Amino acid sequence: MISCLKPVRLGLLSKAQLVRKLSNAPELFKVLSDPVKMTERGIEVDGKEFLHMETRNMCKCEACYGRFSHQRTDLPYRGAMDFPDIRVSDIGRTSENYISLKWSDDHEGVIARNKRGNFGPDPIISRVENWFDLTCRKNSAQKFWSTPDEDVTKRWDYSWVVKNQENTIEFLTHYMKYGIGLLVDIPRHLGMMEIVEEGLKIKPLRRTCFSAVDLVRFKPNPDNVGYGSGPLNLHSDLPYFNQAPHVQFFHLLENTVIGGDSYWIDTFPILKELSEKRPDLFEILKTIPMVWRYSPPGTGIYQLSRQCVVKMQGDEIWQTVDAPQSMDPDTFARTTSLRDREMWWEAYNYYRRLVDQEDRIFSRKLNGGEFVMTDNFRVFHARRSFFKTSEEQERIVSTSYMDWNIMVSRVLSTEKGDSAFLEVREH
Ligand SMILES: [Fe+2]
Ligand SMILES: [Zn+2]
Repeated sequence: MISCLKPVRLGLLSKAQLVRKLSNAPELFKVLSDPVKMTERGIEVDGKEFLHMETRNMCKCEACYGRFSHQRTDLPYRGAMDFPDIRVSDIGRTSENYISLKWSDDHEGVIARNKRGNFGPDPIISRVENWFDLTCRKNSAQKFWSTPDEDVTKRWDYSWVVKNQENTIEFLTHYMKYGIGLLVDIPRHLGMMEIVEEGLKIKPLRRTCFSAVDLVRFKPNPDNVGYGSGPLNLHSDLPYFNQAPHVQFFHLLENTVIGGDSYWIDTFPILKELSEKRPDLFEILKTIPMVWRYSPPGTGIYQLSRQCVVKMQGDEIWQTVDAPQSMDPDTFARTTSLRDREMWWEAYNYYRRLVDQEDRIFSRKLNGGEFVMTDNFRVFHARRSFFKTSEEQERIVSTSYMDWNIMVSRVLSTEKGDSAFLEVREH
């Protein structure tokens, strides 16, 4: 398949000249746009290299990959024992979404050329093409914000959002882009379950040590600072879970106290800034874990985790974890070398100063019937202190959580009954 046409110098041509030249030379065009090439270690597809072993594991033929399950079916899989020293031996037909390959074990199959090939035809296609990157939390698909403009602070009318599937998905994808979504004018009789599971039709809520839905109202001697009336600085929730929930739901049922404003900040542009200005400190936050703990006496709860403030997925910022009220510097000190601790505190203090910049925050005193979804891996939330001047004044909040993929299913997956098969037959 590798063409033997002589290479042609094109470096000095303008783009317009190049296009003209190419359209007059179809053979040349074929060489330059040849999407699949053999390389030293495997094959190159549209400029991206895949290892021989990788391609064999990517086979989407009907013997290797389940048409209905979208799982590999060439089981039991024994890795290298099945394919010792596997190599691509031939490249066959290339279509828009697939590439036919033959391997040194004589297997002939087909791999996906792009993410569409990895999923199948309509109706998943349009969803995958429009929202896949967002659901994968790709930073380039997200819209980082350093000033809360009108997109960030957009107030979504609850009855409009739950009216139909398109509206709901528009709201959820807004949330995925900005890490925050504000719903207003929620009928006062609706609770968390009705709003999320019935209205937005995403379920189930994630049950944590705070139960599926937690009612937060002022308590004296609270077993969680959240139940007090003091200020809470910017934080993510549940850092003491090894896998904290991604999505935080915050429903204001009543807010007639004095003060108690909420505010939020997008930490991702701050981390990006940190990675550019002080890559050394960024590296430390990515590699040295802090200890986080929540163990209120007499509650039967003992939650502890050890995790880094910054988590990456390749080059993408995936998550930031930080809640000063739940930090366990003692355990950290007892279990981490002095040198690492010294570096960690320097990096953390530098980062935290960037986080606590009030000019970047979105601030709002939420009213009863307002509801905020925040990306708990990205947007930190906080609260100002509040007080009462009369007995009837109340601040009642209901909170709950959800895992990212539950929401992703609502955005990407088709309703039951729609077919979603591979189109390799037509390839
Ligand atoms: Fe919180
Ligand atoms: Zn196969």
